Amino acid sequence: MYDIDLIREDFPVLKDVIYFDNGATTQTPIQAVRVMEDYFFKYAANHGRGAHRLARYTTEHYENARETVAGFLNAPVENTIFTRNTTESINIVAQGLSWEKGDHVITTLVEHHSNLLPWMRLREQGVEMTIVEPDETGTVDPAKIEEAITDKTKLIAVTHVSNVFGSVMDVKSICKLAKEREILSVIDGAQSAGHMPVDFEKIGCDFFAAPGHKALLGPQGTGILCMKDPYLVKPLNIGGGAVTSVTASGYELDNAPSRFEAGTPNIPGVIGLGRAVEYVQELGVENIEAHEKNLAKKAAKGLASIEGIDVYGPEDRAPVVPFNLNGMHPHDVALILDETRRICVRSGYHCAMPGILHMGLEGTVRASFGPYNTSEEVDVFIETMEEVTRLV
Ligand code: ALA
Repeated sequence: MYDIDLIREDFPVLKDVIYFDNGATTQTPIQAVRVMEDYFFKYAANHGRGAHRLARYTTEHYENARETVAGFLNAPVENTIFTRNTTESINIVAQGLSWEKGDHVITTLVEHHSNLLPWMRLREQGVEMTIVEPDETGTVDPAKIEEAITDKTKLIAVTHVSNVFGSVMDVKSICKLAKEREILSVIDGAQSAGHMPVDFEKIGCDFFAAPGHKALLGPQGTGILCMKDPYLVKPLNIGGGAVTSVTASGYELDNAPSRFEAGTPNIPGVIGLGRAVEYVQELGVENIEAHEKNLAKKAAKGLASIEGIDVYGPEDRAPVVPFNLNGMHPHDVALILDETRRICVRSGYHCAMPGILHMGLEGTVRASFGPYNTSEEVDVFIETMEEVTRLV
């Protein structure tokens, strides 16, 4: 049973604000904060180094978190690595694969900059790029991706859910297209993991990148990269913890995942993330999806019924609702929402400038929902927007 009142008790800040900026980052439940507190106060040590008890506890908790996260995404545990964020996960792939002049990459115009810039930078190495356009709802048709494939295409990188429009891409079909032609596929799961069931094996991608700090409810500074074959990728950083032997003449990298996690990782963050993912599992990701979809549907409908407001994105959407009030800049709308009713939304280009410009917009206001938001909060938001409209 999805008891929203009980859930809200786990997120104390919700007593003070209406938090509709979950697309940027989410709140972390008390349960996950407590395990981080335990780490600091009861057993803090380094991971994978040292035989003493605290080092053993730390390693055990860190690796348990990896098992939880990999299990939740149905990815091989040894091929699931912890990073700082989705951006780093995607850069690890882009920088770690070997490229030749003339290789071709396909991506889309609805990507977050983090799934665009790492591929754009490869142009410096002579890699060519096709950026496929979405339809008017911000959805990319797999057929358009198929049309863009050439005999030089090496990789297709697509977001699972647009952080701007809430559109959900048919990533399974896109990865199938790629696989049939021996093309690598990268899925940016920044706005999907935790909002909807995600199954790495079923999606069929080669790489799935996700944040720990969005719908998985973990702390900031945590990210995930699941890989089908990690040995295709040269680690971005090497150093302590990534090797099995080092002599004056060279070094031998350890297997995955260790070879990708050189240096002391964000140990408390990863342990907190593991508990946060357990929390998501306790709520049930299908329940979260249904709850958030209802909120998004209600918000989109309510906003669209107000004269002067345009709502973007598809009707059947992930919990992201972008809109504009004619005659008012998105930042002003966001400021008024905060000042008048402590409603926190994001405004601007949402780190996805090409997609917004493509739609002929100069930014949007974005309400994005989490598992702890309520229908009553959406009512307050809609009422407030009706009032704001009268200011124009
Ligand atoms: N990627 C985050 C967002 O869409 C920061 O807001």
